Amino acid sequence: MISKTAQGKINQGSAVRLMFEEGKILRKKLGADKVYDFSLGNPDQEPPEAIKESLLSLARSEEKGLHAYMSNQGYPDLREKIAHFESVRNIVPMDASCVTMTCGAAAGLNIVLHSLLDPGDEVLVLIPYFTEYPRYIEEAGGKAVLVRCDADFRPDLEDLKAKITPKTKALILNSPNNPSGVVYEAELLEKINAVLLAQEQTIYPISDEVYRDLIYDGRAYPPLLSHMKNALIIYSWSKSYALPGERIGYVCYSSNIEDSANLSLALAYYNRVLGFVNAPAVWQHVLEDNIGLAVDPTPYKKRRDRIVDIFQSLGLTAHPSEGTFYILLRRPDRLSTDQFVDLCKKHGVLFVSAKGFGLEDYVRVSYAVPDRTIEGMAEAMVQVMAEIAETVF
Ligand SMILES: Cc1ncc(COP(=O)(O)O)c(C=O)c1O
Repeated sequence: MISKTAQGKINQGSAVRLMFEEGKILRKKLGADKVYDFSLGNPDQEPPEAIKESLLSLARSEEKGLHAYMSNQGYPDLREKIAHFESVRNIVPMDASCVTMTCGAAAGLNIVLHSLLDPGDEVLVLIPYFTEYPRYIEEAGGKAVLVRCDADFRPDLEDLKAKITPKTKALILNSPNNPSGVVYEAELLEKINAVLLAQEQTIYPISDEVYRDLIYDGRAYPPLLSHMKNALIIYSWSKSYALPGERIGYVCYSSNIEDSANLSLALAYYNRVLGFVNAPAVWQHVLEDNIGLAVDPTPYKKRRDRIVDIFQSLGLTAHPSEGTFYILLRRPDRLSTDQFVDLCKKHGVLFVSAKGFGLEDYVRVSYAVPDRTIEGMAEAMVQVMAEIAETVF
């Protein structure tokens, strides 16, 4: 029999994964072409051609030891290249010791939290937030403390100040944000930084940047490390290069971060004992020649535009995303969020309630889907809206 602890945890299923599973059942019931699934954040673009070329040449390589164990932090040459890339991008000093290769952003977040938290330490989490953060914090022995947002889904700085206690050790920010698609501008980062620096203890900003290459409308991603003291970047190629199944990313920070030498030892330690050991060798070799490839977010932007049009023409309120491939859609006034999700499901449209992301009145729509799914959804939503108009809830 599994432990009581595990029993308690497995019941906290992920709303996104549950909806994904429900989608499979619905496809059997309604037929695959009648189900419009906007639940999962799985990029539907293909990885860049250069990645495939490097993968093929690696497979043909006669070099020995390409697949052997390595240092828990990853290959030094690759880390050196990433340190140079991030140091230029963020306008801060950085060397290879400040870069740890990880099994994607999820592993990066976990090793960082384990390295920073003592039991009972608090981590500020800005609403709306990626659903897994509270779980990761809890598993590292910490406590997630949620910070409210304003009507534009940017953090409420007064609430941020009010939520800080002597136990606050870190703050997780995610820009461009899953689920809102909001990009935090430099001024906002400066304001958050000022709040953190006004405290007696060091509070580490943990910046989850997995969507930073998917930004639209000419916006640029600010050099976060130069705006936020003691910040750590969590990056992965899951979303930008469409490689989520391959589990490759890194953690990095400025050489000026507090306790830098111990931090890199701690990250290596937790890579080891949490069982990741090291990031995949093959992907580290492949990415060594392919850091910072230009990523074209235009396909996602086009879909964002189309989806905003569809929702507006139905009289629904959607907050146009500035990046990512998600958009938040407000529930119609007469229904609860759960009723809206269920009604959409009845018509084959799968949206995820944003409750798990900290927002009561919204659903998250992931538009990493083909255009035909979007057009099918547009037709199905006409039926949904007609049913809402005719029904007493
Ligand atoms: C905000 C955010 N952070 C982290 C992750 C996990 O990324 P990875 O696949 O690189 O572990 C996701 C995945 O959806 C995400 O949306």
